[in-house]
Amino acid sequence: MPRDTWNTRIGYILAMVGSAVGLGNIIRFPFVTSEHGGAAFVAIYLVAVFLIGIPMLLAELMLGRRSRRNVVDTFLDLGGKAWKPLGLFFVLVVVFVMGWYSVIGGWTLIYVVEGFSPTFWDDPAGYFFTVSEGYKALGFHALFIGLTIGIVGLGVSRGIEPAVTVLLPLLAVMLLGLAVYSLTLPDATDGIRFYLAPDFGEVRGGTFVAAAGQAFFSMSIGFGTLITYASYMKRDSSLSEDGVAVGLADTGIALLGGFVVFPLLAAFALLGTPAAADGGIGVAFLALPVAFATIGGSLGIVLGLVFFGLLFVAAVSSSISLLEVGVSWITDQGIPRWRAVAILGAVMFLLGIPMALSGALLDFASGALTDVLILGGSFFVALFLGWFYQKRMNEDPVEEMNRGSGRFRLGTWSIYIIRFVMPVVLLALLGIAMLDFVEALR
Ligand code: PHE
Repeated sequence: MPRDTWNTRIGYILAMVGSAVGLGNIIRFPFVTSEHGGAAFVAIYLVAVFLIGIPMLLAELMLGRRSRRNVVDTFLDLGGKAWKPLGLFFVLVVVFVMGWYSVIGGWTLIYVVEGFSPTFWDDPAGYFFTVSEGYKALGFHALFIGLTIGIVGLGVSRGIEPAVTVLLPLLAVMLLGLAVYSLTLPDATDGIRFYLAPDFGEVRGGTFVAAAGQAFFSMSIGFGTLITYASYMKRDSSLSEDGVAVGLADTGIALLGGFVVFPLLAAFALLGTPAAADGGIGVAFLALPVAFATIGGSLGIVLGLVFFGLLFVAAVSSSISLLEVGVSWITDQGIPRWRAVAILGAVMFLLGIPMALSGALLDFASGALTDVLILGGSFFVALFLGWFYQKRMNEDPVEEMNRGSGRFRLGTWSIYIIRFVMPVVLLALLGIAMLDFVEALR
């Protein structure tokens, strides 16, 4: 059977935006921003997006489009045996990340399903503690993986592309609707001030790691998902315009996430309360439910359902890209797709079990450990592209990135960025992330 390809250009752009826009945008970005100095953090974040995020994103897309193979064979074909372990590393990373991502995806589903029920509305703040750890969390983790398996099992052009074509417009409508509601609340400006008032005093070394880690996580860089999605493109499709569009859409949606969250917190006097300070997860699952319950009536229910529906849609369109990385590798070996999704889905489910049962474990896995893994993988991608690609493939990587691009083309300077700036910056970030990791271990 010939390898699958995207049906349309808009289809793969939506798939990439779907992968990028996830829990990271709506839960994590607003929280990290308010914690690290508001607009000062946004400024640093934007620099991270344009200076290292988009170049790395284009690098991954180029590698996938060039090889038109899964991650493992991309590094094997383009780099030789010595680079194959990097491809395998990416497969391990996505399997691990999906383990915890899907537990949180399961929570969003619990809130959507039980959003109407009295158990939820009677105690909106305490509800989280009764469902986030234990058998209910486990069951919905399984359901969430099952849904992801169903979409990915149908394939790229028949499953993933049709799914994102429905999910992304839905996501946009829900997000815009919520933003309009939030911004018209009486204390909206207080919320925005809390979110964005610049405070350069908060900017420390850790702020740069937080910005870069968030940019990478949010744009799905360092997971092999971009390599995988690009491998279903035609070789003359444009990379740079589409890549930049994905980066901008992702950043815009993350900023908009804050415009939904903070005015709501401000309007219901939840800013700075312990629930709202308990990580982004606390804001989404502890503090905002209180806001929806206070609004009450059918409006409260509708707003709550739309908010958790939004989180759910964002999570599914991301998780399909996590599963596809490994599935693409297994199916390229000639194993049928449905068998591949079942095997990998089962492994991801098993890995998620301990995290569905213990919130502390989930915190640990989704924090410093994930940052170390994705920054580490990206460091080796930069090293490969900057120092090995040209010699081995006998072609200029920048020219290959520019293939198919219209007006927006990268200059020869970009190879120097990839060769010298990227590895140094990534190594420094990785070092700091590792210190954080060791800290978290203690
Ligand atoms: N970008 C996603 C988010 O912001 C996370 C993710 C990374 C999802 C890689 C899939 C693949 O939540």
